[in-house]
Amino acid sequence: NGVITIDPGYKNTGSCESAITFLDGEKGVLRYRGYAIEDLAEKASFLEVAYLLIFGELPAESQLEKFYTDIKAESIVDEEMKKILDGFPKSAHPMGVLSSLTSALIAFNPSAVNVDSEEDMYRAIVKLLAKFPVLVAWTLRKKNGQPLDYGDSSLSYVENILKMMFKKPQEEYKVSKVVTEALNKLLILHADHEQNCSTSTVRIVGSSHAGLFASISAGISALWGPLHGGANQAVIEMLEGIKEDGGDTKKYMAKAKDKEDPFRLMGFGHRVYKNFDPRAKIIKKSADEVLGDLGIQDPVLDIAKGLEKEALEDDYFVKRKLYPNVDFYSGIIYRALGIPTEMFTVMFALGRLPGWIAQWREMRLRKEPIGRPRQIYIGENLREFKDISNR
Ligand code: CMC
Repeated sequence: NGVITIDPGYKNTGSCESAITFLDGEKGVLRYRGYAIEDLAEKASFLEVAYLLIFGELPAESQLEKFYTDIKAESIVDEEMKKILDGFPKSAHPMGVLSSLTSALIAFNPSAVNVDSEEDMYRAIVKLLAKFPVLVAWTLRKKNGQPLDYGDSSLSYVENILKMMFKKPQEEYKVSKVVTEALNKLLILHADHEQNCSTSTVRIVGSSHAGLFASISAGISALWGPLHGGANQAVIEMLEGIKEDGGDTKKYMAKAKDKEDPFRLMGFGHRVYKNFDPRAKIIKKSADEVLGDLGIQDPVLDIAKGLEKEALEDDYFVKRKLYPNVDFYSGIIYRALGIPTEMFTVMFALGRLPGWIAQWREMRLRKEPIGRPRQIYIGENLREFKDISNR
């Protein structure tokens, strides 16, 4: 009817219908394709969850085997890509590197751009699920100054990621069960979260029929910010800062509540959850288990628990329904697994990849129109052009 309503941050605007993820923010419920996140995190493998998100059903054994065989057949990344990686300084932020490499991948896989049939889509999806972990591992190895390596097809998807990331030259790498299980769980918990900022980005870029890889590369950039996926890095940096400043959590609680102070309690609050983020509950328990199993004592875990306790009893946080989110404890586990702080958001991207892919595929299969919001113009009326010498 021509009337435009502005909804900053799209707080009350639905952009699509979707059958992938159900989220009830008031009750703290999260389900992928109808399955409770608690069940999936406890009982499924990350690859099974990827299949579920993308194709809608949990795979039978033979389906999963075929899926993984197809992925393994695509795991080689063009050698020329190493030159692009070489061009980055060692200090480059891994999220920038990953987004660029994902975009560069298009040049070496042009057939993955025009996806007019479900078979074309399948091939593009398998290519990306195969090559993305290699890019993640290379990004870390570049940071650590280690030679680049490929995986081992005898390992599971998650074990293989760990080996590609951490195997040192001339070393017999043994994948630890505790570490594999912890990473499997973290990746599942991050795998999808309906129309968040990065997923909406993936869908909107994809809606112009830019290819899958270009859409995902844009999603990585959106995830990078500290209000979204970058919060996991920001949380650890905040906790470290509090520790170095003497561990006075009350001081930082006061800063978080002070509207004149830009400081926010990172890892707290959520656009949709007005109750406990169910992922945070699972991750908190997992942080205790993983640190216990690995025999690690991390003082920032105590600071995190202290902050959480105070926040949950504080009027400011209670009134605004601010609870710990998925990122509050995840960094503590990543750290225990030996993953450097700057790589945390890359790990989030690795977990979110199947969700982005599923959302992109759904958007294309439903033949959604190009995403193109409107605006209300508040600028100048028509003005007379003045020559530069008269301005
Ligand atoms: N610390 C202190 N105050 C906060 C916080 C916080 N972490 N989060 C929200 N508030 C206050 C905010 O100042 C506002 O107060 P008032 O009503 O007095 O103006 C009120 O709570 C509502 O916040 P909002 O910013 O309007 O809410 P939003 O839905 O636009 O933002 C959020 C959601 C997640 C960006 C925000 O809570 C935040 O910045 N949290 C910290 C960053 C973070 O942990 N992000 C990860 C989100 S979960 C994973 C992911 O999405 O990747």
